[in-house]
Amino acid sequence: MKAKLKEIGLVLATALGLFAMVFGVISILEPATVADSLSEPPIKVVASVATPTMETQTKAGASLFGRNCAHCHGDDAKGDEGPSLYDLTRSDARLTKIIKEGIKGEMPKFASKFSEVDIQSLIAFLRTLKS
Ligand code: HEC
Repeated sequence: MKAKLKEIGLVLATALGLFAMVFGVISILEPATVADSLSEPPIKVVASVATPTMETQTKAGASLFGRNCAHCHGDDAKGDEGPSLYDLTRSDARLTKIIKEGIKGEMPKFASKFSEVDIQSLIAFLRTLKS
């Protein structure tokens, strides 16, 4: 009885050893392939999700701009009554404040007209204006 148990133990240990060896050899032979197959799909998924979202947001911003800002800043945002909005260096927080609160005697406030998402879209659009 004891001998039988020992035998089973030996067989199990050998099987485990073989298993470990095979896996060890695979990971030594193909480290790049294993790493690639692990890291590539998530990156591709993120890219294909992020791009359309950004585009949609920028388009929404452009549309809002056309209806609310273009008559002062120009259809092309290059300036008319208001200044050109190309190459803005102000922070998102600063732009949000300007859009929400306006500029006394110069530009109306839009706080009650736009949602936070609207303002984010507008800023996303403004960030695409580079000369
Ligand atoms: C009634 C005309 C008018 C409208 C409408 C208007 N603006 Fe303005 N905006 C101005 C004027 C004039 C200035 C410059 C004020 C100053 O320099 O004191 C200005 C300044 C700005 C600035 C600051 C630019 C800088 O370089 O500091 C931003 C950003 C801006 N406007 C964005 C917008 C956006 C976005 C909209 C639409 C939601 C908008 N404006 C609508 C007239 C307008």
